[in-house]
Amino acid sequence: MRNVGTDISYASRLISEGGVVAFPTETVYGLGANAQNPNAVAKIFALKERPSFDPLIVHIASIESLSILSSQADERVYALAERFWPGPLTLVVPKSAIIPGIVTSDLNSVGIRMPNHPIALKLIQESGCAIAAPSANKFGRVSPTRAEHVLRQLPEVDYILDGGKTMVGIESTVITLDKEGFIILRHGAITAADLEKVVKPSAKEVKSLVSPGLLKSHYSPNKPLYIKGEFDRPIDPSRAGYIAFGKRPEGPYKEIRFLSEKGDMVEAAAHLFESLHAFEELDVDYIIADPVPELGIGIAIMDRLRKAAYRYR
Ligand code: TXA
Ligand code: MG
Repeated sequence: MRNVGTDISYASRLISEGGVVAFPTETVYGLGANAQNPNAVAKIFALKERPSFDPLIVHIASIESLSILSSQADERVYALAERFWPGPLTLVVPKSAIIPGIVTSDLNSVGIRMPNHPIALKLIQESGCAIAAPSANKFGRVSPTRAEHVLRQLPEVDYILDGGKTMVGIESTVITLDKEGFIILRHGAITAADLEKVVKPSAKEVKSLVSPGLLKSHYSPNKPLYIKGEFDRPIDPSRAGYIAFGKRPEGPYKEIRFLSEKGDMVEAAAHLFESLHAFEELDVDYIIADPVPELGIGIAIMDRLRKAAYRYR
């Protein structure tokens, strides 16, 4: 395919000329454009069919850029950035005027992160701008962990930088800070226990906050997904794909894929979207998935699974 490759110079030229480029990060593939070019950012919303109320994350390649994009970030923000960047943590901070309203859905805050991926970092550096990027999937669908997944959902994108399979496999942890401490807006590989080593948690409930990302249904595969033990409709196992965690399920399932055979949660996160994409392509009528323990990164995995299964209740 002509629009898939590994040419970072070409990709960065496209970005600086107002194009849209999909690129790998350590979490999932992003769909990027120059964060200071409103017309380019508008193309992201159009390609993704994403509602304009859902703000984008701005990706940077050095901590110095943080002070340009956020004039009022306090020392706790810098402490978190020093500890977890580059890495899967998005910090929602007060935004400065140079970020156009389309990026943040006119909120006065902006989500910023420095990805831990050499291709992403080089792309940002060579483009010479911060890159606004949501995950590179159609709105509401499964996030991409390979260039092929992007191509399937967004074939019209100007270019897809192919960096192979992403390592973490689920999106970044998104947090904001109030006077007391941090509040998790989206769970990810960096857990509350990790964050508590740097900043105190806030007692505030996430439900009382407005975060556009807190949708009940998201990450939906193109066929019904049921979580084992959380559904009661009859299933023909010979037509089902099974996403297993730990032990092999009993029953004549058409196909079984493991999140992790040895019950490793980090490995499970890396295989979650992979397995959903695989079953979208395979000849099965529905997907059954084992739940994982809701501890550590397991909280983020179950958040994704429940949202992916929501519309098939
Ligand atoms: O790992 C990731 O975060 C990936 C890679 C590409 O960096 N990006 C990603 O972006 O997952 P997206 O757009 O699919 O999810 C961004 C989430 C959404 O839930 C959005 O509502 C939330 O972050 N968010 C972004 N800016 C925000 C803000 N200013 N206030 C509250 N939530 C915000
Ligand atoms: Mg997304």
